[in-house]
Amino acid sequence: MNFLNPSRWKLPGARWGRWVILFCVVWIAGCAQSGAPSMLDPQGRGARAVTDLWWLLFWMASAVFVFFLGFLLLALFRRRATRPDGEVADRRGTRVVLVAGIIGPFLVLLVVFAATIWTLRALAMPPVPDELTVHVIGRRWWWEVQYPAQQFATANEIHIPVGRPVRVVLTSPNVVHSFWVPELQGKMDLVPGKTNVMWLEADEVGVYRGLCAEFCGVQHAKMNFLVIAQPQAEFDAWLAQQRLPAQIPEDGSARTGFDVFMQSSCIECHTIRGTDATGNLGPDLTHLASRRTLASSVMPNNRGNLGGWIADPQHVKPGNLMPPATLTGTELQALLDFLETLE
Ligand code: CUA
Repeated sequence: MNFLNPSRWKLPGARWGRWVILFCVVWIAGCAQSGAPSMLDPQGRGARAVTDLWWLLFWMASAVFVFFLGFLLLALFRRRATRPDGEVADRRGTRVVLVAGIIGPFLVLLVVFAATIWTLRALAMPPVPDELTVHVIGRRWWWEVQYPAQQFATANEIHIPVGRPVRVVLTSPNVVHSFWVPELQGKMDLVPGKTNVMWLEADEVGVYRGLCAEFCGVQHAKMNFLVIAQPQAEFDAWLAQQRLPAQIPEDGSARTGFDVFMQSSCIECHTIRGTDATGNLGPDLTHLASRRTLASSVMPNNRGNLGGWIADPQHVKPGNLMPPATLTGTELQALLDFLETLE
């Protein structure tokens, strides 16, 4: 286990060089990936309650750490007083243990307990009208998103009106996942056989990244999604547009692509409302072209990425449940022409 001890590392440089390297490694471990969502940058009142509690715990823990480190240093470097009346010194020691060992921790834990209760109250479900309920189902490895009141489904993209709470009902038909939008809310698990409910609210119009926060299999790291907070009118327009069935192309390459789709195994797994494709293993594709990303927010939704995904999905996300398509180049191009019409 010598490699665990920096003083035994065979490194060039000055005596302190290895410690500088160790410090730098620990330091950069705290660096944020650019664009990565941070719960320390809350953009909604749910996340703000969690972040406030986090900062309180951070500063209390820091104070306790510094306080006890001070005592440790005192014990290490202060010479023990030699008194003839040992009895008095003992009584003082008892008092220190009573205050620093029992009353102090009790007060600290009392504050933590009160702050936690306050945070739980702040996170309780606010009143939400039924039409603002979203069902989120954890799939392997993507998110099915249903709007039950509006009777449509989409995938990997949750639209919400800005400044209003939305109820999120979480279920999983396979393994445990965890739904997390760090800038908007704390995490909540999706547990097979159980229905969990939480809420999301964003202060500002914007796109917020969400992710799966519970290891759920080989593509856990590529199980992301977007929450898109829109002004109410824009949100209503989006709902109205998503409710519509797909427009079936009448002629041209898009029509050929539609026929390719309907004659292939695509329809076993995918739904396109308004057609005979009613599979429910993969994402609903009725308005695929309106979505910003593909494959659970792994890449931007554009023709090149979509073509690559259909031709060889295992290259993008090895182990995912979509089989590769056996299409000729012409069929694939026609299929892309069709899929691009699904706005
Ligand atoms: Cu789903 Cu990790």
